[in-house]
Amino acid sequence: MNVIDRGVLRLCADPGQRSALAADSGLVGRAVEEILRFPTALPGASAAVPVGLTRYAHADIDVSGVTIAAGELVLLNPRAANCDPEVFADPEQFDIARTDNPHLTFGHGAHFCPGAPLARIELQALFEMLPARFPTLRLAVPVEELRTKTNLIFGGLTELPVTW
Ligand code: HEM
Repeated sequence: MNVIDRGVLRLCADPGQRSALAADSGLVGRAVEEILRFPTALPGASAAVPVGLTRYAHADIDVSGVTIAAGELVLLNPRAANCDPEVFADPEQFDIARTDNPHLTFGHGAHFCPGAPLARIELQALFEMLPARFPTLRLAVPVEELRTKTNLIFGGLTELPVTW
């Protein structure tokens, strides 16, 4: 649900990319990966909402001069990783044609999301049909009026009013 909101918001904010997707459904796979990668629905929201995968340190470890003691809880932020300029060219740019997109939105390693294939199928079905079915889709309220949930670790919008 959050990813659908994020994608709709991004495509409403960028009619050029929305039209490109409507014109070429072959882009939908890459578009969905970019929607999954793109860090936040709203500018600045990632800083306000603490997002993280929880892990406990098994041993004392040193990360960039900070010691994390064994047993301490660590929140790993995949959104930060998804904007790593050493991995992603122009990471702050939303680009549905991005080809190299090894984002960490479904996690990594032993606990990689087993629902990822299903989520991808659902998102691809939706974002293939939506721009074609509603080519004039747009926000029904100014973007400044949108609010993010603060009671969930992965955030999300409280609502996303649209019109067409
Ligand atoms: C866009 C949708 C989804 C996103 C962004 C997402 C994201 C994630 C992430 C980041 C993890 C790893 C958590 C960690 O490492 O601590 C995870 C784990 C998991 N996800 Fe998803 N997920 C999505 C959809 C789904 C769906 C549709 C299902 C089931 C049908 C599902 C079932 C699970 C399960 C069972 C785990 C735990 C795996 C484990 O701990 O070994 N997810 N998900």
